[in-house]
Amino acid sequence: MLANKTIVLGVTGSIAAYKAADIASKLAQAGAKVEVVMTESATKFITPLTLRSITSRPVVTDMFESTTEFSIEHVALAEAADVLVIAPATANIIAKVAAGIADDMLSCTVLATKAPIIVAPAMESNMFQNPITQENLVKLKARDFTIVEPGYGRLASGKVGLGRIAEVERIIGTIKQVLGRSKDLAGKRIVVTAGGTQEPIDPVRHLGNRSSGKMGYAIAEAARDRGAAVSLITAPVSLPEPVGIDVVPVKTAAGMKEAVDKVAAQADVLIMAAAVADYQPKTVAESKIKKETTSLTLELVRTPDILAEIKGNFLRVGFAAESEDIVANARQKLERKQLNLIVANDITDPTGGFGSDTNKVTLIDRDGKVESLPLITKREVADKILDKVVGLLNKGARVL
Ligand code: PMT
Repeated sequence: MLANKTIVLGVTGSIAAYKAADIASKLAQAGAKVEVVMTESATKFITPLTLRSITSRPVVTDMFESTTEFSIEHVALAEAADVLVIAPATANIIAKVAAGIADDMLSCTVLATKAPIIVAPAMESNMFQNPITQENLVKLKARDFTIVEPGYGRLASGKVGLGRIAEVERIIGTIKQVLGRSKDLAGKRIVVTAGGTQEPIDPVRHLGNRSSGKMGYAIAEAARDRGAAVSLITAPVSLPEPVGIDVVPVKTAAGMKEAVDKVAAQADVLIMAAAVADYQPKTVAESKIKKETTSLTLELVRTPDILAEIKGNFLRVGFAAESEDIVANARQKLERKQLNLIVANDITDPTGGFGSDTNKVTLIDRDGKVESLPLITKREVADKILDKVVGLLNKGARVL
C-alpha cells in the first residue's frame, strides 16, 4: 500500500534524527517515493547525503536554497505529498506549526499541504510534558494532525523518561493507517478473531492448538490499511501488537465469545479466523494436578459455538480448517452457521494453514460461487477475502 505513494519526511534537530534514516529506508523499500525535508539543525545530527543515498532523491534543506527555489520547492512538495510525516519532531517545530509560523522549508510545506500530517515527537521528558508542548499537541490534534505518541525509555541526556521517539514500526503503521483512510473499507467497522484459544486444565496447563494468529492478524492489518476501524480479538500469540488496531486479548473460547458478542454489536463485518477450541475441561483443578496415577482422564464439555450463536446485523465470515472433502465440509459449515462467506482452509499442506506465512484457501459464498486460490501469502489471502467482503457490502448483503 506504500508503493508509488509520495511521502514527505520532515526531519528536525533531535538526537533521534538518525531514526529518520531507518524510516526512510523502510518506506523506500516498500516502494514509496520519499522526499526528505530537513531543518538546518537536523543536518547537524544526520547528513543530507545519508538520506539522499537511502531515498535516491534530492534532499531539501534550508541551507542552500535561494528564495525563489525555496518557494517553488515547498509548494511542489506540499502538492505532491500523499502524506507528510515529521519524525522526529522537536518541541520547536511543534510550537511553530501550532502557531502557524512558516519560516523554513519544513514549516512552509506543512502550511502549504492539504495532505494528512503525522507528527512523531522526540524530546526530553520535561520538554514533552511541559504544558506549553502539551497544549501545542492538543491544538495539532484538533486540526486533524495524527500524533504518534513517544515512548518511555533512555533519552539523550542519559535519563530515563517519556519523550523517546515511537518505534519505527509504529510510525510506519500509522502512515499506512492514515493512507488507508480513503480506501474501499473507509468508515466500516470490522471485527477479526485470531489465534488458538487456551482452555485451562489446572493453573499451569491448558488444552490448545497450533494456531499462530498469523492469518487473523494479516486480515486485521489488511482491513486497517484499507481504511476500516478494526477490532482484533486475539487468543494468546507471539506476534507483535499491530499499530492502529484495537486489540482485545482473550484466552478461552468463553472469553472470546464474551468479547465478540460485545464488540461485534457495533460492527459491519465479523471475520472469525481464530481456531476456537471445540471442547474444554468440565472442571478446572484449583492446584497443579500431581502425577500420582499412571493415567489421567479429563472430562471435556463443548465450548460455545461463537459464530453459530451470535446475533446481530453484520456480515459473517467464517473459516473452515479441513483436511478432506474441503469444499463440501465448508459448505455445510456455511449453512449451519448461517454465514455470508466461508474460507475453506486446506490444512493438509504444511506450507498452508497453521503456523505458516502462506495459505491455500477456497472462498465459498452463499450464491454458491467457489473461488480456489493458489498457495499465496496470508496477507494476499487477507486481501482476497476483503475484496469479497467489499463486494458483499456493496451488494447490500447482510445477516441471513
Ligand atoms: O493462526 P494461523 O497459524 O495463521 O492459522 C490459520 C488457521 C488455520 C487457524 C485459520 O486459517 C483457520 O482455518 N481458522 C479456523 C480454524 C477452525 O477452528 O475451524 P473450524 O472449522 O473448527 O471452525 C469453523 C468456524 O467456526 C471458524 O470460523 C471458527 O472461528 C468458528 N468457531 C469454531 C468453534 C467454536 N466453538 N466457535 C466458533 O466460532
